[in-house]
Amino acid sequence: DKRNFRHFMLKEIYEQPETAQQWIDRFLPMDLPSENPIAMPVSKSILENIEQIQILACGTSRHAGMVGAYLLEQFAGVPTKVYFASEFRYAPPPLSPHTLTIGVSQSGETADTLAALRMEKERRDSTQDPNFSFHQLGITNRVDSSFGRELENVIDIGSGIEIGVAATKTFLGQMLSFYGLTILFASHRQKRKSQEILDLSNDLRLIPKQLTNLIKKHDSLSKEIAHLFVETKDVIFLGRGINYPIALEGALKLKEISYIHAQGYPAGELKHGPIALLDQHVPVVSIAVPGVVYEKVLSNSQEAKARDARLIGVSTHRSESEMFDELFTIPKVSEWVSPLLTVVPLQLFSYHIAAHKGLDVDQPRNLAKSVTVE
Ligand code: F6R
Repeated sequence: DKRNFRHFMLKEIYEQPETAQQWIDRFLPMDLPSENPIAMPVSKSILENIEQIQILACGTSRHAGMVGAYLLEQFAGVPTKVYFASEFRYAPPPLSPHTLTIGVSQSGETADTLAALRMEKERRDSTQDPNFSFHQLGITNRVDSSFGRELENVIDIGSGIEIGVAATKTFLGQMLSFYGLTILFASHRQKRKSQEILDLSNDLRLIPKQLTNLIKKHDSLSKEIAHLFVETKDVIFLGRGINYPIALEGALKLKEISYIHAQGYPAGELKHGPIALLDQHVPVVSIAVPGVVYEKVLSNSQEAKARDARLIGVSTHRSESEMFDELFTIPKVSEWVSPLLTVVPLQLFSYHIAAHKGLDVDQPRNLAKSVTVE
């Protein structure tokens, strides 16, 4: 049931505050001690013994994994690598000791992700060396799936059924689950002061309300500007640090549903090739939020602007509005939680361009909700 929405995708974008609130009620409840606030089914032995993490996923789920890897490394100090499941299968890295393998899949049925996890189990089991034992964790929205049946430890992101082929609220649920894991590792290993754990938890608790405010505002702005991009052939998305995966996700959403070619880059790479593409016909979307890479992203955006690109910003500051031709503002939040907000205007931007072009937003050509072939 689409209720009053024209498409499931738009309905699901609007459901994100609820997704976030339900996730918080389940995994970050108020009644746990503030220095150890996460209620997630992760064993003590994993929290204590793991030396590194490898994340296997495809598409949007891999982008959630990349946000997760940033958090696990930078906030919790756990070395983490992210792999395309389809690449991992045929070129796995040499076995590393005390490694946690995390599979991320909304549907829990993606053939490459399942096969990569099975392969990893087999090769670890066959060494019989306890240092190389298989520790695994699944993050999924469908516990009633192959993931749910095959994996020992599963985190149910609980985002509710998603019908639109383009993942939106499940991406949010996957990212939130990585915030949970990050806090678990950081608090268990005393990698962060209790005040830092408390600050991150409190910032997460504000997200549902902030999402509600954002969605309305960005829905109308995206709708207003969508017509400007009907003839557009290419769009470049820039982000750095924790928002680099959001640049990739913004580009993927646009490609999938509007059939406009789009590419996400870490903003510092612009000058190493992609800048040659820029002119007035190639819009650039730049995610520039205060934090360790803020000034850098702004100067990278300035370089794009100097090549006459139409510049669309996702930023906290009104004062930046002179640089950007269009600006999606988000509240001033800590950089740690910013991906939970910066992704929203990009979802709406893609949605409105596709809807304006009259495309089948919920069932884009050549795509399926669950990719059970490799
Ligand atoms: C993008 C999208 C796909 C999926 C990918 C993995 O909107 O939906 O890129 O993210 O096919 O699917 P799951 O998460 O079901 O493994």
